[in-house]
Amino acid sequence: MSVLKGKKVLMGVTGGIAAYKTASLVRLFIRAGAQVRVVMTPAAKEFITPLTLSTLSKNEVYSSFTDEEDENAQWNNHVELGLWADFMLIAPATANTLSKMASGNSDNLLLATYLSSKCPVFFAPAMDLDMYKHPSTKNSFKILQEYGNIMIPAGDGELASGLHGEGRMAEPEGILKFLEEHYTENLPLKGRKILITAGPTYEAIDPVRFIGNHSTGKMGYEIARAAVKLGAEVSLISGPTHLSMDDDRVDLIKVTSTHEMYEAVSSRFKDTDVFIASAAVADYKPVTVAGEKIKKDDQSLSLELTRTEDILASMGERKEHQKLIGFALETNNEVENARNKLKRKNLDFIVLNSLNDKGAGFKTDTNKVSIIYPNIIKDFELKPKTEVARDILTEIIELLNA
Ligand code: CTP
Repeated sequence: MSVLKGKKVLMGVTGGIAAYKTASLVRLFIRAGAQVRVVMTPAAKEFITPLTLSTLSKNEVYSSFTDEEDENAQWNNHVELGLWADFMLIAPATANTLSKMASGNSDNLLLATYLSSKCPVFFAPAMDLDMYKHPSTKNSFKILQEYGNIMIPAGDGELASGLHGEGRMAEPEGILKFLEEHYTENLPLKGRKILITAGPTYEAIDPVRFIGNHSTGKMGYEIARAAVKLGAEVSLISGPTHLSMDDDRVDLIKVTSTHEMYEAVSSRFKDTDVFIASAAVADYKPVTVAGEKIKKDDQSLSLELTRTEDILASMGERKEHQKLIGFALETNNEVENARNKLKRKNLDFIVLNSLNDKGAGFKTDTNKVSIIYPNIIKDFELKPKTEVARDILTEIIELLNA
């Protein structure tokens, strides 16, 4: 899965022969799962039609502040376009546009959008070799890089003039690879190992019966998915659930009982940077597991139960550099109970779901949580578990970088 999946890409196309390659580039972005909007300079339209790029990007293409052919023309808002994007890519970037970008000229929609964008800006120069070498062009590269813009260097090869040398725009596949590497290198959880427990655990009573609970594992699975997207190496220790993991970057280890979950966590804990215990672990198990199915002989049946391992508390005792995150599901004295667990299990923070909140807890796609630190409480709105997962990981990134 590409790191560019879901990214909003604003492509700026300027008037150079390499503009014809932007058709392939837009297709590559779409195939990678990105959203693409295109702004062209008027000169770029001589090299590739807006219709081609709007068909491929599935979005309207903009090239002027208003649409000249439409008498009800609307103002094409360069500020809105700039704010929409996760990053802007100017490809091909001609010497003329680069020089205007460096000097703050904004005499077309692309330049005004560039000036008002707040996102990272990449530029892929394309020009003839003597233009590429000219001190004035080199100066534009230098100034733009000092502004924080990122250059995707041109390649060496045959140029449209028939000459041979530096100035040929990087190939679309090369541009995509450059961007994917950039975003992989800069992911906030890159190089971090995260261990997550999810779902219920089952404790056998006899060969056909068990003690379990209603946990589906959704929260833990969403955290695992979000964490790999942010660059983490994720091991997900999952109790029995109907969920499947569609991201093969997640190392999924399936277990049934608390003891199996404990063993799986225990053997990985030393090398882990963050342990997130989202599983609803069975606290008790039968002292003996019947070898045969228990028959109903009497009016009542008593089972003697004994405590299972408290996985999180054990890791809390072993904690060295690791960050530990727990979950608490409470019905009364919520904050006080959660704070006690935070202390008792030696956690960095605890995520509290209240069963009193509609749409929170088990079997729902939404959750309403509070994140509780020893001295701070952060309350979040009711939102999809995908977003709750991101909120939790944002807190973890802050903890790791503190
Ligand atoms: N937990 C665990 N192992 C257990 C029990 C709980 O790792 N045997 C973890 C859960 O995954 C959760 C946190 O500990 O992150 C809190 O679990 P909870 O069952 O609410 O807390 P307990 O300490 O068991 O307290 P109580 O059941 O009395 O509320």
